[in-house]
Amino acid sequence: MTATTTTRPELPVVHDDPFSVDVLRDPYPFFSALRDAGPVVWLAHHGIYATGRHTEVATVLSQWARFTNEGGAGMADIRKPGNWRPASVILEVDPPAHTEVRAALQKILSPLVVRQWREKFQAAAEELADALVASREFDGARDAAEAFVLSVFPPAVGIHIPRENAQAIGDMNFNAIGPNNELTQAAAARAQPYMKWYEDSLKREAMLPGGFGELIHQAEDQGLLQKGFAANLTRSFLRGGMDTTISGISAALHALAQDPDQWALLRSDPALARGAFDEAIRFEAPVQVMFRTTREGAELGGVALAPDTKIAAFIGSANRDPDKWPDADRFDLRRQGAGQHLAFGQGAHVCIGQMIARLEAECLLGALARRVKRLSLAGPPVHRPVNTLRTLDRLPLVVEAAA
Ligand code: HEM
Repeated sequence: MTATTTTRPELPVVHDDPFSVDVLRDPYPFFSALRDAGPVVWLAHHGIYATGRHTEVATVLSQWARFTNEGGAGMADIRKPGNWRPASVILEVDPPAHTEVRAALQKILSPLVVRQWREKFQAAAEELADALVASREFDGARDAAEAFVLSVFPPAVGIHIPRENAQAIGDMNFNAIGPNNELTQAAAARAQPYMKWYEDSLKREAMLPGGFGELIHQAEDQGLLQKGFAANLTRSFLRGGMDTTISGISAALHALAQDPDQWALLRSDPALARGAFDEAIRFEAPVQVMFRTTREGAELGGVALAPDTKIAAFIGSANRDPDKWPDADRFDLRRQGAGQHLAFGQGAHVCIGQMIARLEAECLLGALARRVKRLSLAGPPVHRPVNTLRTLDRLPLVVEAAA
């Protein structure tokens, strides 16, 4: 990895492209170079500022008064000509407008409502775990994480989404948050045939009864949300909760399959499943990077940033920052304070669906831990390169059932 210093001695330049396929397949050498180069760097390949240290990433994500979301959560400033697209009415607005929308959604996601889904998630996890153990060899990414999340999460939102549609739309979304590179263009082309179906499936009349989507539309009827917000919010909900949770559960299975002691520990106490998931998403952050724009000029890590400047906050790097995490590159489900990771973001926009993601992970990992004595890799795992999402395409696993 190469880092040099510009004519401005305080600002290092990193030349590698974090969105190249090689870096996306193994981003950790890049992250290490990014953190070592300085608290704020210039990513020459994309002409954009970036930070990869825990302190600065947390600052950028949480201090909305200095780092606004209104220029969009992606690399392009959606207020600039040529980049316009409709903004997410929750993620791409600042308080106070954000506070109102968030409060309405928070009501819908009350602990009571979430608890009502627990039984369904648990039953689906037990059934899938039985089938996986009976098959002995399976793909941890597709047959376990993806199959499980698609069986419980879209129905909870109130949508039926076939696997091909889900993956094409998810890859389009998470590539588009990054640069308009070949990955983004190919993903947009692949998703094109599903776009009409996608738009239609977010409409009120398409919502399956009893899901969060229906409650969101009802909140609009009751005047708790502005007219026209419900479909946009349902989209943010589905977009935020599907690929991320698949990625996090796959990462947990991957890490656990590589370390028999950690699997034995989880087996000895399946209640550790929740902690295992938090450590997994610290270790392999599903959302690798989010973007903000300076409002006025802002100082960050001793660097003065001009008004209206985009900055990339590399969550995947912050979660491996050795100044924050002792033995940062080790997956350790006994790690103290693993929950302080930035995988769910930080501040006003911190992930509103985190208890749903944790519930899903807890159900599936717990169900497997109760049934499987030994979990191992049956072949090399393969990551799918997506600009802003860390995700496994293949995770061949073999299990030995508990007696
Ligand atoms: C492991 C799973 C998940 C991860 C890693 C994750 C990650 C994140 C991150 C990093 C943010 C903040 C983005 C930013 O500040 O720019 C966020 C926000 C959000 N997430 Fe999640 N998420 C997950 C699961 C979910 C689920 C299950 C849902 C829906 C039930 C969801 C819905 C949302 C929404 C609506 C926001 C926007 C909140 C706001 O702007 O106030 N996410 N998520």
